[in-house]
Amino acid sequence: MAKIFDEESRTFNEYLLIPNLTTEDCQPHKVDLSAPLVRFRKGHEESRLKINVPLTSAVMQAVSGSKLAIALSRSGGLSFIYVSQSIESQADMVAQVKKYKAGIVVSDTNLTQHDRLSDVLDIKRATGHSTVSVTDDGSSHGKLVGLVTSRDYRVSRISPETKVSEFMTPLSQLITAREGITLSEANDIIWEHKINQLPIVDDKGHLVGLVFRKDYEQHKDNPLELLDHSKRLIAAAGINTRDYQQRVPALVEAGADAVCIDSSDGFSVWQKETLQWVKQHYPELPVGAGNVVDAEGFRYLADAGADFVKVGIGGGSICITREQKGIGCGQATAVMNVAHARDRYFEETGIYVPICSDGGIVYDYHMSLALAMGADFMMLGRYFARFDESPTRMMLVNGSYVKEYWGEGSNRARNWQRYEMGEKAGHMAFEEGVDSYVPYAGPLKVNLDTTLAKIKATMCACGATSIPMFQEKARLVRVSPTSIVEGGAHDVITKESERRP
Ligand code: IMP
Repeated sequence: MAKIFDEESRTFNEYLLIPNLTTEDCQPHKVDLSAPLVRFRKGHEESRLKINVPLTSAVMQAVSGSKLAIALSRSGGLSFIYVSQSIESQADMVAQVKKYKAGIVVSDTNLTQHDRLSDVLDIKRATGHSTVSVTDDGSSHGKLVGLVTSRDYRVSRISPETKVSEFMTPLSQLITAREGITLSEANDIIWEHKINQLPIVDDKGHLVGLVFRKDYEQHKDNPLELLDHSKRLIAAAGINTRDYQQRVPALVEAGADAVCIDSSDGFSVWQKETLQWVKQHYPELPVGAGNVVDAEGFRYLADAGADFVKVGIGGGSICITREQKGIGCGQATAVMNVAHARDRYFEETGIYVPICSDGGIVYDYHMSLALAMGADFMMLGRYFARFDESPTRMMLVNGSYVKEYWGEGSNRARNWQRYEMGEKAGHMAFEEGVDSYVPYAGPLKVNLDTTLAKIKATMCACGATSIPMFQEKARLVRVSPTSIVEGGAHDVITKESERRP
């Protein structure tokens, strides 16, 4: 007879925090949100890789490309670049993060001079950027030929068929700077020549990137930026249990600082084999594993050498695993069960293996709950998919701006390695994820700052100034369905508001 667990599994929505005494120390600017990413001997040493804010972005095509990875690492979190792509293109994305120089942006809006005004309008719509670099081959590092900004054309006056070469500002009239220039020198040129953007080129005239006037202030001050010993941004990537022997060397070569095995069900011998291979060949490379939802799954991966373990099955916003396979567990229960297992493992072995709550975070306060319940950090997909920096298209649907967001188990992602059980030559037997839209929310940094402010305020209310202290002190209460109704605006006629999760 099957084992039936006594307790129902529960979600974040079913809990609230009870405040503790807020002391003088509990002020948002004093709160430390750093979190360990790699197993360590707690009490004797520090984790050798820490993130400065406890947020990572999901290993998903619609979320973690190099642009989001750069923005998140600059803000102190970490992206795991998606694995459902060729080894070469994933390694290239990692390399772009490692090559990133603060303030010098790789141009993602590029055309050739033979393209047309209609192409300019299309690409502007797709990327949301108004500066188009014109290169000989239309790539971000091709030979610079000119630049198109909105000052160069009037849509009402010229035909959509007009060639870019006829209205662009040609190289001969552009101010450019050579690779190697410092950001403050670039900024001096921008001010001196009253320009809004400065293309940086190498000695052969190939475009390296652009420096924008508006970015400068932001780039000056990023105290939480996640940097390696050579002051390059930290970069991480997803891997699978199939081609790791080829993929991991390419990722390491590209500069990856950490990897994570990406699977909806991590309690498997393949994860153990993958962990052991990585540990044997790249003992210095942090490697996470998952996902699991219980103590047994955690123990298995911790014993196999995982540096951190991801928790969550079926809670993702685009996930239909529970409906399709009947597998999963309410996310709050999963986090608490695995957190207990992690603490027991620490008592037994002296080794602390960080855990990551992955999926199912809807409101910002869910992040505080996940931390209070024992997660060291979190992984989010939907949250990051809404931002300018996610790799998907922005669209106007029913009068509102949205971004596309699809699951790695959807037909659209065709991620054969992750959902291998339903695989048949050429197509999957069933999907585990949906294709959807999420409301567009603007730039990552602005949203993240608000989210972090909320988490810090919650921690202060609970008398804590660090995540470990929060976990020790937090007091949680279960809420009844009627008290959930009481928690929102109720019994009033609300005016239209812009409240977002
Ligand atoms: P979200 O933050 O609620 O959107 O959840 C993101 C998480 O959902 C990811 O980190 C994955 O663990 C999980 N996920 C991604 N794609 C799929 C899918 O197609 N099916 C099931 N789970 C998925």
